[in-house]
Amino acid sequence: MNVLGVESSCDETAAAVVANGRQIISNVVNSQINIHKLYNGVVPEVAARSHLEVVIPVIDEAVQAAGGWDQIDAIANTTMPGLIGSLLIGSLSARMLAIVKNKPYYPVHHVEAHVYANFLGDKAPSFPFLSLIISGGHSQIVLFRDHGNYELIGQTADDAVGEAFDKVAKIIGLPYPGGPSIAEAAKNGDPHRFHFPKAHMHNKYDFSFSGLKTAVLREVQSTVGVDHTFPSTKLADKLDEQTRNDFAASFQQIACETLVDKLVMATNEFQPRSVVVAGGVAANQELRRQLIERLPIPINFPTPALCTDNAAMVASLGYFKAQRTTPTDPRHLEVIPSISMNQTIWNN
Ligand code: KG4
Ligand code: ZN
Repeated sequence: MNVLGVESSCDETAAAVVANGRQIISNVVNSQINIHKLYNGVVPEVAARSHLEVVIPVIDEAVQAAGGWDQIDAIANTTMPGLIGSLLIGSLSARMLAIVKNKPYYPVHHVEAHVYANFLGDKAPSFPFLSLIISGGHSQIVLFRDHGNYELIGQTADDAVGEAFDKVAKIIGLPYPGGPSIAEAAKNGDPHRFHFPKAHMHNKYDFSFSGLKTAVLREVQSTVGVDHTFPSTKLADKLDEQTRNDFAASFQQIACETLVDKLVMATNEFQPRSVVVAGGVAANQELRRQLIERLPIPINFPTPALCTDNAAMVASLGYFKAQRTTPTDPRHLEVIPSISMNQTIWNN
């Protein structure tokens, strides 16, 4: 069964065709990173306009590369959560095509789809597995007992970890998106020069990253010899390259350790058969190193290109939904900008 996935929840317009939830036939991603770099972050209105410009050619390219519409058996589409204008454009396009081409339509949850990047290719994770889903908008640990049968174990109380990478990058003067630029700078930095605190949470599996970001801000202020009244946008100019690299490495070290500490605890308690890492931050090599070093069970990581937003993961999840649920009528559907994975979303 070939599923066409359509993704537009944030700043990537993407379409992909995947066979049987596992084999990528085509995978097209139009990233807006170069546009948003100009603004140092995603501007929702700009994102929506860019989706509008490219959504049709992106879908067309993915379908043609798979041999045309006759080869498509179903359409899966991200309808939640995300930026509302961005979601609306991908969703309306996918719904319209489902009606015109007469294909069954499956709405999918973006965060859940990230996990399915791990089903693409040769090695699928074994159930039950613990997933660590870490992106620019989400940080959570979810226990998957089976497809569509999962439980939220912990989540961030404030900023997502990718958001913390992006905000810290801004403070120390590294370009957007912060994750890859911090990882790059950290290669030449000392991860032990600065000591940042780990937040203690009421639910031991919850995270908090906003305190870590503030701790970095305060340490930068004291290192360059200014107080909190100094404009934060001018702080980076006062950092030399080595100090900037040391901040990147020390922040990355503690952010990764925080995530791995929780996963080690959760693995001991829930005894999963594997651990699955997903979302943009899963591309981080230091995180991968720490996980492999500290977890005694198999760990699945998507290839770096499938960690960040793409539509192959959407098509994969769509396939598994199609095996167990009935299609949704594309005429009756709304996008949901904000919805956590702890709510039941499979309509079986
Ligand atoms: O999954 P994603 O593409 O979009 C969301 O759904 O949010 O994740 C984007 C996030 C950004 O915050 C970016 O800085 C972060 O993933 N990221 C990384 C790396 N590559 C991307 N964070 C740490 N290390 C990386 N190598
Ligand atoms: Zn994402």
